[in-house]
Amino acid sequence: MKIIMIGTGYVGLTSGVCFAHIGHEVVCIDIDKEKVKKLRNSSVPIYEPGLEKIMRTAIKKGKLQFDTVLKPYIANTDAIFIAVQTPQDKDGKADLQFVKTAAKHIGIALHAKKAKQYPVIVDKSTVPVGTAQLVKKIIKKEFDGEFDVASNPEFLREGDAIQDFLKGDRVIIGTDTEHAKKVLTDIYKGIESELFFTSIESSEMIKYASNAFLATKISFINEIANVCEDSGADVLDVAKGMGMDKRIGNKFLKAGIGYGGSCFPKDVRALHSIALNNGYTFHLLKAVIEVNNKQRKLLVDKLKKRLGNNLKGKKIAILGLAFKDNTDDVRESAALDIIKWLIDDHASVYAYDPVAEKNARLVLSDQCEFSPDPYHAAQDAHAIVIATEWPEFTELDFIKLKKLLSTPLVFDGKNILDKQLLTDLGFEYYGMGR
Ligand code: UGA
Repeated sequence: MKIIMIGTGYVGLTSGVCFAHIGHEVVCIDIDKEKVKKLRNSSVPIYEPGLEKIMRTAIKKGKLQFDTVLKPYIANTDAIFIAVQTPQDKDGKADLQFVKTAAKHIGIALHAKKAKQYPVIVDKSTVPVGTAQLVKKIIKKEFDGEFDVASNPEFLREGDAIQDFLKGDRVIIGTDTEHAKKVLTDIYKGIESELFFTSIESSEMIKYASNAFLATKISFINEIANVCEDSGADVLDVAKGMGMDKRIGNKFLKAGIGYGGSCFPKDVRALHSIALNNGYTFHLLKAVIEVNNKQRKLLVDKLKKRLGNNLKGKKIAILGLAFKDNTDDVRESAALDIIKWLIDDHASVYAYDPVAEKNARLVLSDQCEFSPDPYHAAQDAHAIVIATEWPEFTELDFIKLKKLLSTPLVFDGKNILDKQLLTDLGFEYYGMGR
């Protein structure tokens, strides 16, 4: 089938490449000329394991193209996906300006090319309920021919995006016509996931509700962790024991310094704001947000309790800058907040991350030092802080690290280290809820 993907961010690029990988003819459109130029040369602007390889193959097979303009492709397309960003506006709501602009361009292009093939316009961006109808209205203003709109939210995780796309738990499709249902069924034929068809409005809500629920699970286990710490229980065992109950499940029960990234923080705030605009106060989500904001601060409080409120003359090694492992994304990363607070308290910070240094430098510039490896960061440091759950941090040479450190303190913000082993080696270990 012939597909146009508008927007080449994480969602648009991965989805476009994966659709091409399963055999469709895909054109990815982005207004950023430089980015399109690089993509045409198979240069992937994001860190996503495996993406570059399948992108190169799809381009070679002639299944994948990139362009800055829509018109040449529109007359002959089955589906046009909108996968542009929906950032947060100043009130916490989703800012729909990019979605609206994409819809207008689609309408203008459909009109100019007198498209008669009855395309389906599919919203993949995370958008509030009612946005598909808004998209329909905007396109109708420009184009009086036949078209459908549908909602098909994305559930991919950064770092696991390809696997999630090709073998996700489900594909949610919101439609209101048989034609749109058929087109999307055909598009997803090559994918090993159950398709769930629903109304457009329910589909739009499923995305927000899913992210908000997962964020709630994280804030819940973080509060349990805080209670564990005061009562002598270990949250790792508590989460394991809870997760053995299939009704609860063992996923998303890792306590630590809270969730970050470009999705959970923004989507939880957006859903809270959508509810408020409808006259409903979503008390639970308000607490989820507050707990998450507090959690990263707790680690700094612990460190200051041990090293003193004024950290002048103290060197802190921060291991991890990305908002989670397997990505170079530092958006809303707890690590960056922790670094800023430590610097505010006059600490000197040396940070290391296997892939996110470049992005972190754009935010932190020269506020802290960046180390080429964890041992460099730890040299003469008064404490190590684990701020990202990179698996490689569990395999560090802790005997070597202990010799390098000025004081053997470890603050494990992600609970990934072996507390017993570190204690036996003579470290003072501080986890989250252990
Ligand atoms: C999330 C969702 O998991 C995807 O399904 C969704 O498609 C995506 O948002 C989106 O809306 O686009 P992502 O932001 O890539 O994906 O990251 P996650 O793996 O969900 O992790 C989010 C944050 O929660 C990270 O900071 C992670 O460290 C933290 N986390 C996760 C915990 O603190 N504890 C856990 O148990 C799990």
